[in-house]
Amino acid sequence: MERTKFILDEKDMPTQWYNVQPDLPEPLPPPLHPGTKQPIGPDDLAPLFPMALIMQEVSQERYIEIPEEVQAIYRTWRPTVLHRAHRLEKALDTPAKIFYKYEGTSQAGSHKPNTAVAQAYYNKQEGVKRIATETGAGQWGSAMAMGCMFFGLELKVYMVRISYNQKPYRRILMETWGAQVVPSPSTETNAGRSMLSRDPECPGSLGLAISEAVEDAVSRDDTKYSLGSVLNHVLLHQTIIGEETIKQMEMADAYPDIIVGCVGGGSNFAGQFLPWLRDKLSGKKPDLRIICVEPQAAPTLTKGPYTYDFGDEAGMAPIVKMYTLGHTFIPPPVHAGGLRYHGMAPIVSHLYKLGLIEAKAEYQVPVFEAGVQFARTEGIITGPEPCHDLRVAIDEALKCKESGQSKTILIAHSGHGHFDLAAYDEYLSGRLQDYEYPEEKVKEALAHLPEVPGGL
Ligand SMILES: Cc1ncc(COP(=O)(O)O)c(C=O)c1O
Repeated sequence: MERTKFILDEKDMPTQWYNVQPDLPEPLPPPLHPGTKQPIGPDDLAPLFPMALIMQEVSQERYIEIPEEVQAIYRTWRPTVLHRAHRLEKALDTPAKIFYKYEGTSQAGSHKPNTAVAQAYYNKQEGVKRIATETGAGQWGSAMAMGCMFFGLELKVYMVRISYNQKPYRRILMETWGAQVVPSPSTETNAGRSMLSRDPECPGSLGLAISEAVEDAVSRDDTKYSLGSVLNHVLLHQTIIGEETIKQMEMADAYPDIIVGCVGGGSNFAGQFLPWLRDKLSGKKPDLRIICVEPQAAPTLTKGPYTYDFGDEAGMAPIVKMYTLGHTFIPPPVHAGGLRYHGMAPIVSHLYKLGLIEAKAEYQVPVFEAGVQFARTEGIITGPEPCHDLRVAIDEALKCKESGQSKTILIAHSGHGHFDLAAYDEYLSGRLQDYEYPEEKVKEALAHLPEVPGGL
């Protein structure tokens, strides 16, 4: 009998996060202040984040202890299971071995609670009473609602309006955990009101919802802001995924040739691949392929320039060096709401620039085709975002069939799609459409990049 699940005992759950920063071949370019355009210091970030997270953002410590209170909550769903996709392999008739690390078994249904719980903990430690955040389709908002519930914090969520209107179930999830949710653009912030005066029908975007949440946080003493992706400390918290997977792949007596994952801001995938990258950087596994997958509708890595840009629409968040489609770019309404972001994590961008990781862009119809194939073999209904990983993993497994090579493919499966069934319905009834890369709109957005001092 070949094993299907690789299950780590609670007592073997990793107790440290891995920080890639000291191992980077070149340091990250510094983030800049949105007003002065000068490198930003810890004090500049203090109105937004608790000091513990600001220190993690710039830490050069290779390993950071996971606080016991955070571990205790992690243990309510972690360690997550590593699966071998025997049924998918058989259906594809491939000699490839396919594994997937499945984060959909957290209470919120994705990897996002790995950082939400940690962020809620550090805010609570520093006496913060209330958090403001944004959410696209609701994955991040629901994770943060769960994190705040565990630590008794109030939460206000600015939810991108198109999702707020079309996807009420995640809003109800957030409200059930005790959060307050408003559609963005809202009438409650200057950023929201300004957008509504220009476009009363604006469907919203993640960049704009971030502006609203940042404005909320800086205008109140009892509130801090929280971001669910992109930042170094968020990627750090997600490395528990890869650290667990390394132990589980050892149990399976396997080592990946290819690791594949979707990237919106890059947190789930970086959480999986950064611990493996150690072996690539040290020369132990120089040929390891790490493939980031993004939507053709928002192809940040594959089509954007690597340059300084704002993290949000209104230009209130720090300016970071990243691949970007321009902070004013509003991506077409693909179902993978979590991948509709104009930028990319500075760490992921830096590694891509250095040629250590690869990127591919996929259309949503073939992406859902892969999702349905996975549902009909492995049984799991996958979120639209990780359906992107499935497309590329299946294509790589089919290449193995042609070449006869038995490669080991590891999928960073970030969550289930139980709240995305309308998207599956569109696919199954033939109504789902692909969106071409909106070249003109990107060109227009790139004309609004911030000017930064020479040499940066
Ligand atoms: C299930 C799932 N996967 C992936 C993503 C993309 O985010 P990130 O790139 O930070 O993992 C999201 C974002 O909401 C998500 O909900």
